[in-house]
Amino acid sequence: MSSLHAQLSNIYRGKKVFLTGHTGFKGAWLAEWLLQLGAEVHGYALEPATTPVLFQQLNLASRLHHQIGDVRNFKLLQESILSFQPDFVFHLAAQPLVRYSYQEPLETYETNVMGTLHLLEALRELQKISSHRIAAVMVTTDKCYENKEDQTAYHEDHPLGGHDPYSSSKAMAEIGTAAYRRSYFSNASAVHVATARAGNVIGGGDWSADRIVPDAIRALEKKEPIFVRNPSSVRPWQHVLEPLCGYLMLGAQLMQDRELAGAFNFGPHPEENYCVADVVTEVLKSWPGSWQDRSDPTALHEARHLNLSIKKAVDLLGWSPVWNFEKTITKTVEWYRLHHEDPKSTRALTQEQIVSYEADAEASGISLS
Ligand SMILES: NC(=O)c1ccc[n+]([C@@H]2O[C@H](COP(=O)([O-])OP(=O)(O)OC[C@H]3O[C@@H](n4cnc5c(N)ncnc54)[C@H](O)[C@@H]3O)[C@@H](O)[C@H]2O)c1
Repeated sequence: MSSLHAQLSNIYRGKKVFLTGHTGFKGAWLAEWLLQLGAEVHGYALEPATTPVLFQQLNLASRLHHQIGDVRNFKLLQESILSFQPDFVFHLAAQPLVRYSYQEPLETYETNVMGTLHLLEALRELQKISSHRIAAVMVTTDKCYENKEDQTAYHEDHPLGGHDPYSSSKAMAEIGTAAYRRSYFSNASAVHVATARAGNVIGGGDWSADRIVPDAIRALEKKEPIFVRNPSSVRPWQHVLEPLCGYLMLGAQLMQDRELAGAFNFGPHPEENYCVADVVTEVLKSWPGSWQDRSDPTALHEARHLNLSIKKAVDLLGWSPVWNFEKTITKTVEWYRLHHEDPKSTRALTQEQIVSYEADAEASGISLS
């Protein structure tokens, strides 16, 4: 059997991929991976929001069709989709931060809900003028479930909900996508649309505010203690390459099989759920320093427990998590340490980590179903 890399390149090489959110953390990694697979990528997103930013470190602006555009601008988004005529769409652009969503709920809903509907509407227009097959993966989150904070492992049929503006905006994006699928993309439609609900991702190149790993690295670089808001919160942590591999495997198989047009969870094995304090402790094994509990009982609500069932993705896509918790943290800290020592090595390092992940995936027997 050919390797996962060979299988994915057979599908994506020379294909047109419309990727929203390519200036962000996950989008930049996905753009890099798609370029390694030989795809022609059109990125559509806002200007990079952090300094430094992985998008620039990978020099993506010169390696793909780079477009600054707002998903709230339906006309521009539609023009871009209609003129590029993609084979694949990966929709990652979003306002992705829970705490920011409390400050800016309307911006969050406009971006995450209307942005998603604008993309779906553009695909509806595209199918009127083109009959070629399109596979679209709309990225939401595991936070889209009605989270009762018990030990339930949520599977794809559990009720949607979301306590805060971010989580509920993603549940709304899920509902809107399902409605478009039933109303416009069923039966003979050439557009196959799925949604992907991933857990908390970590990995090199995330420079966002308000996320535990970038916060920890910023503190370690300055030789300061890491302040931890919610040390006992348990999350389905995974390396960024895990859900991205899931999105690529889903897109590849969705293109062939309309039956896969639905929702998929991507998370770690259930025994790999760890709390924030475990993450920080593991980080400190590779980059010594200290941390302090800065729990604030008056802080805005953020879910403390979240478990995901990944059975559907394992059974139907042949996807499975590859790196365990320790390796996930080791690879993440390795990336930031090397970046700290030699920022110019970032692109080579990112590419090496993708190759290393593909090799480990192959060794674990991961392949398209
Ligand atoms: N990082 C995580 O732990 C995590 C977990 C689950 C789901 N997700 C989802 O994955 C996706 C990517 O997340 P990320 O961590 O890379 O976020 P990020 O903040 O690093 O990147 C967000 C991207 O969306 C773009 N964007 C934001 N608003 C936009 C707008 N109005 N128009 C066009 N582009 C816009 C930004 O320019 C950027 O390219 C999001 O949909 C997020 O909800 C992330």
